[in-house]
Amino acid sequence: MRGIAIFALALTLVKGQIDLTRDKGAAGADVVEATLQQIRESCIFPSDYLFLRRVAYVMTKDGTGPDTYRIGFDGGIWQINQTEFALTKTSTAISQYWAPIKAAFNIDWATVQWSDLRRPLYSGIAAMLTLLRVSAGNVPRALERQAAFWQANFLTENPRAAFEFLSETQNLDGTCTTNILDMAFIVDSSTSLSPEDFERAKQFASDVTGQFTVDPNNVRVAFVTYSSGYRANFDFQRYTTTSDVQTAILAVQKTEGGTDTDLALKYAANSLFTAQAGSRPSAARVVVIITDGRSDNKIDAYKNSQMLKDRGITVFVIGVGNQVDRQELDNLASNPTCTHVQELQQYSELDSLKTEIKDLSCKALVTLDNGVYNYPCGQRTNFQVNPVAVRSIVVRPSTGSVRVYGSHTNPQPNDAFRDFVAVATPTNAATVYVTDATRPLYISIQSNNPGECVTNYQIDVVPFNALNKNSMNVCIKKDVTTICTTLDVLRGMYPVTQPSNLGFPNKCSTNTPGLYPHPYSPYRFLYCDYEGQAYLVDCPAGFYYNDQVKDCVKGVPPTPPPSTRRPVTVPITMAPPRTFPTMQPNTATPGVTTQYPLQPFPICTLENYRLGLHFFEWAANETKYIMCSEYPGMGRLKDCAPYHKWSQVSQACIYKDVVIDWTRDIYQTTAKADNYGCTPGLKDDSLFYHAHPYDNSKFIQCDEFGDAFILDCPANEIWYQDVQNCLPGVRNVKSG
Ligand SMILES: *[C@@H]1O[C@H](CO)[C@@H](O)[C@H](O)[C@H]1NC(C)=O
Ligand SMILES: *[C@@H]1O[C@H](CO)[C@@H](O)[C@H](O)[C@H]1NC(C)=O
Repeated sequence: MRGIAIFALALTLVKGQIDLTRDKGAAGADVVEATLQQIRESCIFPSDYLFLRRVAYVMTKDGTGPDTYRIGFDGGIWQINQTEFALTKTSTAISQYWAPIKAAFNIDWATVQWSDLRRPLYSGIAAMLTLLRVSAGNVPRALERQAAFWQANFLTENPRAAFEFLSETQNLDGTCTTNILDMAFIVDSSTSLSPEDFERAKQFASDVTGQFTVDPNNVRVAFVTYSSGYRANFDFQRYTTTSDVQTAILAVQKTEGGTDTDLALKYAANSLFTAQAGSRPSAARVVVIITDGRSDNKIDAYKNSQMLKDRGITVFVIGVGNQVDRQELDNLASNPTCTHVQELQQYSELDSLKTEIKDLSCKALVTLDNGVYNYPCGQRTNFQVNPVAVRSIVVRPSTGSVRVYGSHTNPQPNDAFRDFVAVATPTNAATVYVTDATRPLYISIQSNNPGECVTNYQIDVVPFNALNKNSMNVCIKKDVTTICTTLDVLRGMYPVTQPSNLGFPNKCSTNTPGLYPHPYSPYRFLYCDYEGQAYLVDCPAGFYYNDQVKDCVKGVPPTPPPSTRRPVTVPITMAPPRTFPTMQPNTATPGVTTQYPLQPFPICTLENYRLGLHFFEWAANETKYIMCSEYPGMGRLKDCAPYHKWSQVSQACIYKDVVIDWTRDIYQTTAKADNYGCTPGLKDDSLFYHAHPYDNSKFIQCDEFGDAFILDCPANEIWYQDVQNCLPGVRNVKSG
């Protein structure tokens, strides 16, 4: 039972599904992020340009402020008062959103009570509706304008409100979750663009870059322009500091000509996002396309953009000018398009967009394929694992611990909204085993709390079950996150079979579920599950099963007292398949008690044993044979019955010569009339042993001529027909 306890321990540490965004009184940055994530990804509202994110912080410190959930005020994290709330249910200016809210969140807004706003998602939706009502759909973009709007509409009595909004949200914009980023700007330089607008586009790219710290280990930036053809101004490894990148961007010269968006995207997919150009598979990879017009070759532009997206590269599209073809922008961008496409009327609006692009880029997902990845600790990185039939993701930090959050629905799973969380340490990895997944799995790895990992962690993505007892295991089967069973974990560690015939009595129907020694082989063990099913498990080469530890341990098994061990005469279930017939030698001589001490035999290798090769001829005397033990290099020298000799081909003792009746009679212990079911003409693979009809301490051995021999089991042992061997048991003689 200790084995089960060890396995069970690893399972219970995985916490289950959580969505705090619908829980009354929930608070914290993770709750706010997860709430706004859902509102944004629903794509039913226009962008709020991070306004609600900022309001949550300024208003209630993301709900952690002591007054947030005060008695008598139900406004929640966004502090929507009763008057404002009532208007969300009555104002025709926003009535168009009620049906989509029902469809996206299954919330019937007409029946929502003010008290429901104690739930973050409800408060967030009410805040969004209020914002859209008050701004008449024109949400201010720039931070300064938002601050002014905030004071004018929500905190009129506080003359310092705008200033406070501005100063308090400075801290918010400084947080970036992913620092390992390959960011490529692909900028339209065609003739339809005025030189001034091109300068502004460059200034925008430079400003976005200025919000990151460019260095080879973190953020890398590349820059491409296009008109008739494209120009690769610089790739990811060209510049290694923020200021060098900014200087280089501002120095790019405008070209003139058509709009070959397709060629620029093709270059990005085939040449820019490669190791040669300094792109890293371990990085979040982002493309920002800035364009004023329509592509000359739409079909190829879509196709080439799709190549980028298929490789897990996030594509943002910023449309500028009056010539914008919204459908083209949507087709080029990643999904959901509502968060990946920005339309600007003027290039001057680019400035207000830089924080959003930075914020979204920071959250871009790294796509994990099979391979080994290394990341620095102390931050938060978001991953996407595309669905495949079988895959394991193993996370292990070199020091401290990291948290592994996962979800199928939230691209940024966290403490507030996730399907699971597991904690990994240097000795206990976290292993996520995914089978039959139909949707991508999102994983967020975080170690930004004090006391967590500060060095680095490794992710191994492998196409098989990599579950381990010494790991925090999560199993995702057919898209459902479950607790990994002991069987899942055993299968991740060892070859497991469920033979129809174990080769010995199946005690699992009465045994407590757990791990048990194999009755004959020290290199195998038995797992009984909760339904009484028996599974055979093989230890790896060089390991044997230790029942104290309830696991395979390295080394050679201790030699048991000879009396408690019986030879493995019929390893029916022994894998791998054997080429020899199952006929076994006569291991006991009638009426003769012989000691067969263990002694060294070089042919008794572990490899032979595991192949099922247990019996060998002994060159010095054909009437004897070597029976290998489970202990490498050790075996017993055994005698064939009189007048018999060893046949290596038959794997049995056979008669030496043509047998004449009188000689056989001597050794035949019963009358020939009663042959105990032995029939003449037995072949190598025939059944040569039978149970004795009334004494279970005896058994019958047939020979190839149909003769029957009654043999005795050793003391205190009885015959088991299914095992074809004597084992300890209680003698039972039926009368008659
Ligand atoms: C609710 O909030 C709005 C906007 O901040 C304000 O104008 C109004 O007076 C508030 N109503 C109540 C009852 O506090
Ligand atoms: C082979 O072993 C048997 C039984 O121990 C013995 O009687 C016989 O003499 C041996 N034969 C030879 C050739 O040594």
